Amino acid sequence: MLIRRPDDIPASEITPEGVYRDRRRFLGAAGTLGLGLASGLIAPAALACAPGETGEANGEVERGQPALPDEPTPYETATTYNNFYEFGTDKEDPAANAGAFRTRPWSVVVEGLVKKPATYTLEDLLRGVGVVERTYRMRCVEAWSMVIPWMGVPLRDVLAKVEPLPSARFVEFTTLLDPRQMPGQRTAVLEWPYKEGLRLDEARHPLTLLATGMYGKTLPNQNGAPLRLVVPWKYGFKGVKSIVRIRLTERQPRTTWNDAAANEYGFYANVNPAVDHPRWSQARERRIGEFRRRPTLPFNGYADQVASLYAGMDLKANY
Ligand code: MTE
Repeated sequence: MLIRRPDDIPASEITPEGVYRDRRRFLGAAGTLGLGLASGLIAPAALACAPGETGEANGEVERGQPALPDEPTPYETATTYNNFYEFGTDKEDPAANAGAFRTRPWSVVVEGLVKKPATYTLEDLLRGVGVVERTYRMRCVEAWSMVIPWMGVPLRDVLAKVEPLPSARFVEFTTLLDPRQMPGQRTAVLEWPYKEGLRLDEARHPLTLLATGMYGKTLPNQNGAPLRLVVPWKYGFKGVKSIVRIRLTERQPRTTWNDAAANEYGFYANVNPAVDHPRWSQARERRIGEFRRRPTLPFNGYADQVASLYAGMDLKANY
């Protein structure tokens, strides 16, 4: 994957015309949605989750910059700069390759330590659960971030429907396995299907969503339609997309990125500026749409709500 530093990039590439046009279009949509204005330039960073690649590390950082506001990322950017390796490893691949992906009908197997295991249609799984809209900062381990207005259901409400047994301590999530539809699964870039997991108390935290939409619209395929996990205090790779299986377990489940490179991607994956990824710093981040880097906050700025989940834990060992 191409990795370039800002000073390698010709000025002509910094604000591609299409992005500028899309931004203008977003400004109109933002007004309709009651959102703030999106600002700035498209970020040039092209870092990779993939093991074995070198990422941009500490580099030069602007000092004394004022606190920057959290404006929603332009819709066009959030839907064309994606990690969804089932559709390719470049950021623009999912938007280019996921257009024909079939997300209806969709069913989700709920199994393991629950009172009501079943294969639920998506509609049945979500029936009676109230939809919420929440704008979250999202931070990728590649040291870029976005701000996304999500729509979805609190995962805790879905879990309450299926009733975890007292012995359940973790939740495992699995993405669809369908190499005919997902060209990336015909390659061995990751072990398929993609899996992620949470501790049950993390899964039941009110901030944790199963998203079905964003920016007031149905979730685009490249962002994980029809159902994906959103955990705003963790690195983006925890946000498993196109979920077909939810399993309640007693033991900590294996996860795809942890299996791929355990020293780089931990089970907890809480955003932590004090614990660097082996190949790049986590102290700062580049908000997509901005050029300057801003400091990364513990738990991505959600410490007040979630730090108590980890009381007494060594967060360097449990990264
Ligand atoms: N889920 C699946 N199934 N496959 C993936 O490759 N990538 C993860 C996560 N969920 C991924 C996935 C990573 S590394 C990130 S940063 C986020 O999705 C990106 O979500 P976004 O494209 O909506 O920004």
